[in-house]
Amino acid sequence: MTVQTQKASRSKSEVGRGNTPSSEDANRQALLDGLNHDLAGEYQAIVMYTHYSAKMTGPYRRELRALFQLEIADELGHAQFLADKIATLGGEPTTKPRAVPNADEPREMLELLLAAEKQAITDYDKRIRQAGLFGDVGLKVNLENQVADETRHMEEIERTLAGWREHL
Ligand SMILES: [Fe+2]
Ligand SMILES: [Fe+2]
Repeated sequence: MTVQTQKASRSKSEVGRGNTPSSEDANRQALLDGLNHDLAGEYQAIVMYTHYSAKMTGPYRRELRALFQLEIADELGHAQFLADKIATLGGEPTTKPRAVPNADEPREMLELLLAAEKQAITDYDKRIRQAGLFGDVGLKVNLENQVADETRHMEEIERTLAGWREHL
């Protein structure tokens, strides 16, 4: 056996976990693409909450603005975590948020934010499974904590909308 062949057969057996090098690469790439999709969503959430809190009018402006400011801090933490993780895995973190839908009325803003939170929960659910396939338990736990944050945001908006009167 030549040195080259020995090297090749050793690296193959060291891959472990039943993954061939190509399936491990494919899992890594799928995970990186997914995390970048999520990062664009987090940047979108930061812009949405900031933009809507600036435009918000009506009798609940103060309360909703305060709620939005709290959520901006959470979304910023999520974005930083994702950007760090993408860079650590050898990817290039995106700098582009998803497009922010226009809204002028408070109720419309809340409905769009609710849809964005639900989307984030669905996306993280998928990402948690991909992190499991990739064998990164730490990432899985971090994403689960982010889902818990998004669920809290979603429920808060749902509770606000549940008591909303049509004329507001
Ligand atoms: Fe988030
Ligand atoms: Fe959120």
